Amino acid sequence: MTVVLGIETSCDETGAGLVAEGRLLGDALSSSMSEHARFGGVVPEIAARAHLEAMLPVVREALTRASLDLSDVGAVAVTAGPGLSTAVQVGLASAKAFAFALDVPLYGVHHLAGHAAVDVLEHGPLPPRCVALVVSGGHTSLLLLGDLARDPIVHLGDTADDAAGEAFDKVARILGLPYPGGPSVDRAARDGDPRAIAFPRPLTRPSDPRYGFSFSGLKTAVARWVEARQGAGGDLPVADVAASFQEAVADTVTRKAVAACLDHGVDTLLVVGGVAANSRVRALAEERCAAAGIELRVPPMRLCTDNGAMIAAVGDLLVRAGAPASELRIPADPSAPL
Ligand code: KG4
Ligand code: ZN
Repeated sequence: MTVVLGIETSCDETGAGLVAEGRLLGDALSSSMSEHARFGGVVPEIAARAHLEAMLPVVREALTRASLDLSDVGAVAVTAGPGLSTAVQVGLASAKAFAFALDVPLYGVHHLAGHAAVDVLEHGPLPPRCVALVVSGGHTSLLLLGDLARDPIVHLGDTADDAAGEAFDKVARILGLPYPGGPSVDRAARDGDPRAIAFPRPLTRPSDPRYGFSFSGLKTAVARWVEARQGAGGDLPVADVAASFQEAVADTVTRKAVAACLDHGVDTLLVVGGVAANSRVRALAEERCAAAGIELRVPPMRLCTDNGAMIAAVGDLLVRAGAPASELRIPADPSAPL
């Protein structure tokens, strides 16, 4: 049995996880989120410095939680991209140092493969084919997955502009809700009416790209609506705006994800990434998958956002499939394609 140490530093979370044979043995996380709050978004230099400070304590904490020693680690997996360049490089340099010092193989991992693979730790092996809806602060993608250790990931569609999480963060700012915006909007929407305002469902006409997303127009529609209301001197119904915006996002992403499954004859949908933590996205995905006879798999909330366990999960699949290790000199690939 090989214990894989996974390291994730692509954005503002420093994550370490230990996985063997599809089982999560222990993990730990440190976030620099609060340091970015006053800037309204992640500042790469601040994130990189925070990763450097947190790296060894986080790895030590993960080992402690797993009751393991560093010498028990048999392979190291690390996010090689995509992500913030300076942030990815801190994780990659650390992972190389661990692999070199321990004389164990190193695996450079695609961040999105990690978001998909993490579900294995909770719900067991993935079926031979599935569709993954990756909705996070940096990505909104529909992927067709085969065997994650052997087959290339097929990219079905992407966002033309903002990612879904980014739209949540920007709308939160428009509504004066605290950063990070996703959880704030989700909370505010609980008391609102999702049908109060008919915000647009972007790229859902028959002539639009079937698996394409676009959220910048939706965000602008929210901003315009808020400006008009404030210009007229009216009170801002924050809960209704939050609920109506959230409904537009949830409706769009779940509709396209289910269509992708049906088009490709796939009967399993994975919904992953930070926005998979959204209560309405989850509820609507459940409803629509049930209606279409599709099995829905959503990892537990704490594994939905960036973490080290998801990278270890990919490393574990690669180790067990006997995949070749990466070279110790692999570069960071911040804008890694699929
Ligand atoms: O996957 P993640 O941790 O990082 C990236 O790889 O981007 O996703 C972070 C994003 C943020 O934009 C955050 O606002 C959003 O996920 N998010 C949510 C919720 N929780 C986190 N969006 C909507 N509803 C939530 N409950
Ligand atoms: Zn992510």
